[in-house]
Order: sequence, then structure tokens, then C-alpha cells
Amino acid sequence: MKSSVVLALGVLASAAPTVAGPISHAAYRPVNVHRRQSVAPDGSTASQQAIYQQAFTDPVGAAKAANALPFIAGQYATGGLYRYNLVEDNTQLPWNANVPFIAEAAVNGSVDGGWQALPNIEGMTLNRTFAVQPGAVMPFYQTQGYDASKVKRAVMVMPGKPRDCWKYTSLVQNALNVYTTNPQSAGNNPDGTSSTSAADRTAKDEVLILGPCWMNSDDAKAGAIQSGELYWHGSEWQSGMASRGPGSTALSSYEVMDAFMDTLFDKTQFPALETVVMAGHSMGAQMVQRYAVVKQPAAYDASVSYWVGNPGSYVWLTSTRPNQNNASCANDYDEWAYGLDGSGVPNYARERVRDDQNAVVQMFAARNVHYNYGLLDNGQGDTACEASYQGANHLERGCHFVESVAALNGNALPKTHTANFMPNVSHEDYAMLSYNISLYRLFEEVPEGASNATNSSAKGAATKGRGGSSSAAAPQALVNSVALVAGAMFVFGLSLL
Ligand SMILES: *[C@@H]1O[C@H](CO)[C@@H](O)[C@H](O)[C@H]1NC(C)=O
Ligand SMILES: *[C@@H]1O[C@H](CO)[C@@H](O)[C@H](O)[C@H]1NC(C)=O
Ligand SMILES: *[C@@H]1O[C@H](CO)[C@@H](O)[C@H](O)[C@H]1NC(C)=O
Ligand SMILES: *[C@@H]1O[C@H](CO)[C@@H](O)[C@H](O)[C@H]1NC(C)=O
Ligand SMILES: *[C@@H]1O[C@H](CO)[C@@H](O)[C@H](O)[C@H]1NC(C)=O
Ligand SMILES: *[C@@H]1O[C@H](CO)[C@@H](O)[C@H](O)[C@H]1NC(C)=O
Ligand SMILES: *[C@@H]1O[C@H](CO)[C@@H](O)[C@H](O)[C@H]1NC(C)=O
Repeated sequence: MKSSVVLALGVLASAAPTVAGPISHAAYRPVNVHRRQSVAPDGSTASQQAIYQQAFTDPVGAAKAANALPFIAGQYATGGLYRYNLVEDNTQLPWNANVPFIAEAAVNGSVDGGWQALPNIEGMTLNRTFAVQPGAVMPFYQTQGYDASKVKRAVMVMPGKPRDCWKYTSLVQNALNVYTTNPQSAGNNPDGTSSTSAADRTAKDEVLILGPCWMNSDDAKAGAIQSGELYWHGSEWQSGMASRGPGSTALSSYEVMDAFMDTLFDKTQFPALETVVMAGHSMGAQMVQRYAVVKQPAAYDASVSYWVGNPGSYVWLTSTRPNQNNASCANDYDEWAYGLDGSGVPNYARERVRDDQNAVVQMFAARNVHYNYGLLDNGQGDTACEASYQGANHLERGCHFVESVAALNGNALPKTHTANFMPNVSHEDYAMLSYNISLYRLFEEVPEGASNATNSSAKGAATKGRGGSSSAAAPQALVNSVALVAGAMFVFGLSLL
């Protein structure tokens, strides 16, 4: 059973073409695009704009409307049906047209043959000293010269399937530049407009950008991973599997995520931190969604939000699927990493899932999860049978997932979940990340339940770090946030009955 999941992910990994030397991401354009509905309503930009607006007040209705759009990805296509990381990405949206753009760093090696080095990138420092366990270092990019006493939010961005942490780190830097230099850029009102006064907007030095580099065995062989550094097999970092090194280290990528989170919420290190946003697009979004489902509970959970953009597949929360139509995976479509059934769930979460799957699902419902979809993203992505059970392509799976979460909750998304649908955007990471509502989610929104809660073992440190005057408020804030989480779980739990 475990082998079928490994096989599925293996197929996915081998679908990427080999590209030597510094790469162009246009090379990853998938060939197998599934046609969806071909009848009305029309797929015009106007009808997409209507869905964008509807999603602010009625995300489930918007998901249904998006799922009923005709086949539209060909509309603006250049040389194919599927628009992917075109150069126009950084000029497409009005608010980011005039902001200087940091280009993706060049890097030697290839997706299949392994990367030969982690490049230096503008504005960032490559940190190679974070030992998650003795002798197991996790490399990551961090904002150059940040002042920890000023950092109010950390935005951690996951790479895509090519393990291109340098690229996504630069994309988030660019998005932050758009946010900080353009007051029109963040839309936080229900209609997508912005109500935040200039004084309340996040300043650049209040944001710490982190870009973990989830590398694999090929990268270890090719040279990007140095002795003593962590790496995984294939794309298994996205599903929480155990590392394949260094040495005999078998560390779940989700344990590494926990270590990042514990560090960020340690008040002795980041005294002003309020919010951590974990963001990912495509394969990175799969990492974010799966971690958000099975993450071990922590005191600071209500202060963490998850930005999920156009994932190729999901860990589904129930054992039914919208497209249960292919006999070849009829018996294993619900196995990890596509579902919560079976023995394939990584050690990290296996016991909790086996003991009380319902509790895991309720915990997810109480987390701050933001789904983001390009309304032109009808590329197939994950070609596994298990993924096809979730929908034919990225957009359809996303709409189905939103509907399936709502179905567990009286047909509405849990209060802490949102869904947004970006008009005229395909499988385009930067357009997704720099969309106005995304800028708000990444750089401005503080979750309602957020507090300056720290992890339990660092409580004393929190008091010390924040000074005498505020120490009394901290426990109350923690109590409030826990009560809020419990409240959300209660509502969700009730409707499960
Ligand atoms: C849609 O995107 C394309 C490509 O980025 C752009 O040329 C076009 O102006 C956009 N159309 C609308 C209506 O936004
Ligand atoms: C790629 O490798 C060549 C040959 O070793 C080297 O000259 C070049 O600087 C490398 N490029 C990058 C981006 O590291
Ligand atoms: C690298 O990251 C670790 C863990 O966050 C931190 O303790 C260390 O100070 C960082 N190194 C640098 C040079 O900032
Ligand atoms: C955000 O974008 C949408 C779609 O283009 C637009 O309707 C809305 O007015 C924008 N908000 C801001 C603040 O620019
Ligand atoms: C069913 O799944 C298998 C395995 O992924 C795939 O090869 C086959 O094409 C699928 N059949 C259909 C009708 O989609
Ligand atoms: C966290 O603490 C800082 C500094 O004491 C304060 O400005 C901020 O409002 C607090 N945030 C929350 C969400 O309680
Ligand atoms: C909490 O923070 C402390 C101090 O940084 C750290 O040692 C500990 O591992 C963290 N995690 C938990 C779950 O307590």
C-alpha cells in the first residue's frame, strides 16, 4: 500500500523534463491538460471577476461557479493551452507593474540530475547552521540582516516540485516589495478594496522571509546538499516522509517545520512576533495543505496561517471523492498522501490519525487556512489516479476540496478558512502570490485568534522577552486563543454529527 503512494509520487517526479544549466521554468509546461465543461456560463474575464467578488462573501458559491466555468485556459495562451510562469507574470497586475523585480537566480544542475549548488540570492542570506537535531542541518534562506526585535511576522515559502527554494524566496521578496511600495496593493475588504490606513500597514523590516530548501538525494549527489545537511527522496518532503540523510537521519519534513515554528515563536529570539504565514504554490501548496492537516497541536496554532495556492492534490478529509471513476485506484485512493486512511501516513502523525481521525480533521478546521486558485489553472498537474479522483485538474480539485470542507461544516467554510479565485491567472506562481488579496494574506492579516502565545516550554522566556508590563497579558491572550480554537472546533464538531 505504501508502495503505491511512492509509485504515484515517482511518476510525478519523472514527468519533469531534464533541463541542463540555469533553467527556464517555461520548460515545465505539462502536456496533458484535461478539458472541462465546454458550455455556458461563459469564461469571460467579467464572469471571472464576478467569481472573485463573490468569494469574499460566499466562497462555497464561488467554488461552485468556478467549477462550472467552461474550458478557458486556452484563451490567452501563448504557444499552447497552458499558461505557466510567463514573463508577463510580473506586469500582469496593475499594482506590481512598476516595482523592481528580482529575477530568479541562475543555478547549475537540473531537476532530475540534481542541483549542484544553492545559489546566493539578492537580499537574502543562506543559513546553513540550523541543526534540527545534532548533526542534521536544514538549509534555508532568510532575510539579510533582519532585526529580530522588529519582526512581527514570518512568511515561510515552500519551493515547487523543482525544489527551487531560491526562486520562491525571490518571488516572496518581490511580492513584499509590491506590498510595501504600493498602497493600493492589499485588498482586505469584502469587495477586494483596501481599508487599511497607511500607518497600519506592515513595514518591510517587520517581515522576516524564510525559504526552506527541501532538497533530495539527487541534489545530495550533485552537490547542492553539503555534508551534515538534510535531504529527502524525490518529492517526499511534501508529504512529511522521513529524510534519507544525512547518514541514518530519518526526520520527517513536518518535524523540521515544527522546529522552524518553535524557533519563531520563541520569545527570547523573536519578542515581537505575532504571526507566521506558511505559503506554497503547486507542490509547495501540497506541502502546506498536508502539514496544516496533520501538524501536531501547539499553543501558538491560532497565530499561524496557511496560504495554499493551486496545489496538484490534497490530503482529503473524508473517504468519498467527487470523481470516483477509475478502477485502477479504487482500493487505495484514500491512502496517504491523498487521504488519511491506511498505513502510509508518516510516523509523524500516524498514531494521532489512527487514534482519532475526527480530532485531526477538527483541528484542521480550526486552523487559519486560505485557499487560492487561478481561474485559468486547468492544468492536470498530478497525473496519478488518486489525484484524478479529486478532480480533473488544479482548479477543479480546488473547487471540490472547498466544497468537501464546507460539506463537513453545514455547507459553509469554517470561520478560519477562506477561498479566493484569481481572474485571468493560470498556474502562475507570481501572479498568485502578488494578487492583491494574497498580499493582504501574506503581509498584513493577523488571524483573529492570534496572540503573542509562545510554546509551552518557553513561557518563562516569553515573560522575560516582553518585559514586565505586558507579562500579565500574555497568559490571558493565550487562554483567549485556545478558547477560540476550541470554539471553532466545537462548531465544526457539532456539524459533523
Ligand atoms: C490577462 O492576462 C494576460 C497575460 O498576462 C494579459 O495580457 C491581459 O491583459 C489580461 N487580461 C485582463 C482582462 O486582465
Ligand atoms: C556553473 O558552473 C560553471 C562551471 O563550473 C561556473 O563557471 C559557473 O559560475 C556556474 N554558475 C552558477 C550560476 O553557479
Ligand atoms: C541561522 O538560523 C538559526 C535558527 O533560526 C539561527 O539561530 C542562526 O542565528 C541563523 N544564522 C544566522 C547567521 O543568522
Ligand atoms: C483587487 O483586484 C480586484 C480584481 O482585479 C479588483 O476588483 C479590486 O478592486 C482590487 N483591489 C484593490 C485594492 O486594488
Ligand atoms: C486510470 O488510472 C491509471 C493509473 O494512473 C491511468 O493510467 C489511466 O489512464 C486512468 N484511466 C482513465 C480512464 O483516466
Ligand atoms: C503582540 O505584542 C506586541 C508587542 O507587545 C503588540 O504590539 C501586539 O499588538 C501583540 N499582538 C497580538 C496579536 O496580541
Ligand atoms: C519551545 O521553545 C523552546 C525554546 O526555544 C524549545 O526548546 C522547545 O523545543 C520548543 N518546543 C516545544 C514543543 O516546547
